[in-house]
Amino acid sequence: MKVALTVVLLVICRPSWAEQSAHELTVYKTPTCGCCSKWVDHLNDSGYSTSVVTANDLSDIKLKHGVHPRLQSCHTAVNNDGYVLEGHIPALVVDAFLKEPPEDAIGLTVPGMPVGSPGMEMGNQFQPYDVLMIKRDGSVGTYKTISHPRQQYLSGRRR
Ligand code: CU
Ligand code: CU
Repeated sequence: MKVALTVVLLVICRPSWAEQSAHELTVYKTPTCGCCSKWVDHLNDSGYSTSVVTANDLSDIKLKHGVHPRLQSCHTAVNNDGYVLEGHIPALVVDAFLKEPPEDAIGLTVPGMPVGSPGMEMGNQFQPYDVLMIKRDGSVGTYKTISHPRQQYLSGRRR
């Protein structure tokens, strides 16, 4: 009887465990990066749990996760399932990706640091940008074009 109950509970709890694990991120940043910390706040405010690792040189970590120089930004996040999230990606876009990761995708990147992206706010300035999807073979494609700051936040909220 006790065994049967345990099995039932396991079955019920399964999906939320899986989802929670996808939302746990390790974020690699350099010690002095302020915009990285602001992006971490943006993710935390959007339901992610993050643990931050600081290092002076992130190039090995980026390469290990398939983020080649032309795709790089300041910080590199890796979720519990091994997907890489490079740079100032809006949490909404991370949500959509992790919910249904395309089969050959290893992660997302916003190369550089577009002004007005989450963590890169500078008044009302905004530079449109693409969130790129990195594939297993190293190629990239556009995952989502962000042409207006509103597309980055839930119902117009900043974070
Ligand atoms: Cu940055
Ligand atoms: Cu950063």
